[in-house]
Amino acid sequence: MIRKFDRKQLKNRMKPKVYLTRRLPSAVMERLIRETELIWNQGDRVTSRAEIINGLRDCEGLVCTINEQIDAEVLDSAKRLLVVANFGVGFNHIDVTAATARKILVTNTPDVLTDATADLAFALLLAAARRLGEGERLVRGGKWTGWEPLQMLGTDVSGATLGVIGFGRIGRAVARRAQGFDMRVLYWNRTRLTDAEEEAAGPRYANLEQLLREADFISIHVAYDKSTHHLIGATQMELMKPTAFLINTSRGPVIDESALIEALQTGRIAGAGLDVYEREPMLTAGLVQLENVVLAPHLGSATLGTRTKMGMIAVDNLLAACAGNRPPNCVNG
Ligand code: 8YV
Repeated sequence: MIRKFDRKQLKNRMKPKVYLTRRLPSAVMERLIRETELIWNQGDRVTSRAEIINGLRDCEGLVCTINEQIDAEVLDSAKRLLVVANFGVGFNHIDVTAATARKILVTNTPDVLTDATADLAFALLLAAARRLGEGERLVRGGKWTGWEPLQMLGTDVSGATLGVIGFGRIGRAVARRAQGFDMRVLYWNRTRLTDAEEEAAGPRYANLEQLLREADFISIHVAYDKSTHHLIGATQMELMKPTAFLINTSRGPVIDESALIEALQTGRIAGAGLDVYEREPMLTAGLVQLENVVLAPHLGSATLGTRTKMGMIAVDNLLAACAGNRPPNCVNG
C-alpha cells in the first residue's frame, strides 16, 4: 500500500522531506536532521493546524503527536505524503480510515512506553490510596502542625483487589506490578485469554460488571475509539464499591468526566488518579477543587529514556515507509 509516485518523487532527492510538529529529545532531533530534510516548529509550542497544512505541502513524511488532529483535510493538503509517523502508541487523533483511503501509511510506537506508562499508573494508584496529593498540599501550604494518629488515613494497597480494564501490553505490565504488592488481580478485555495464557499471566478474567463490583482499585488501559467512549460512566460507577479508586492513564474520554466528578463529590467512590482528560488540557469544572483525586498532566511515557526510544521508533517507521518498505509498526494497510 504505497503511493505510486513515491520512488519517482524521491529519486532526485537524497533525503525524504519531513514535517515534525514538536521538538523531540535531542538524540532523535540529531537523527532527524541527519537523515531527513527536516522542517519543524522551532519555537517548541503547539503547532497550529494552518502551520501543519502549510508545512506539509511538499513533504513525504509527517511526525506528529497527540496534540494534532490529522484528518482528511490535513491529509488532502499533502499530495506527496507517504507516512504519518505518530510519536506515541495511541493514534485516535489520526483519521486512519482517511489515511488508508489515500494510501498513506500510519505508524505508532508500541512496546517502548509500556513500562513507563505502567509505572505511572501505579504511581497514581499509590498516590490516590495514600493521599499523597493532599499531604503535599498540606505541607507546602505551611498547614502541617505535626504527626497525628488519625491524620490522613488512607487505604491499604497490599492485599487489595486490582481490576485491570483492557489487558494489552500496558494492562499486563500493571498487573505484574500489582503481583509484587500481593494484590489479587482481575482483568477484563474484549477478548479473553486462553486458559494457558491466563495460567501464565496470573490474573483471572471477570466480566466488566463483576470487575467493577469486586475491585478496590480499577486501572484503565483500553485504546480509545467509538466503542470505548464513556465506557465508564455513572452506571458503571454505581457498581463500584464506595471505597474503590479509579485510575486512568489511557485516554480521557473513556471516562465520563462529569459523572466522575459527581461520584467523587458525593462519595459514590473513594478517589481517583488521572493522567488523561476528556478535553486536554482543559479540565471539567469541579475537578481541581476535589481533594480525593490526584491529577497528572499526561505524563504516562514522560521519561527521557522512553521518549527517546519512542522518537527513534517513529524515525525507523518514517524512514522505512519513505524507502518504500513496510514500516515495523504500521497500523493500516
Ligand atoms: C504520548 C500517549 O506521550 O503513547 C501514547 O499513546 O498517550 C503518550 O504516552 C503521547 O501520545 C505523545 O504524542
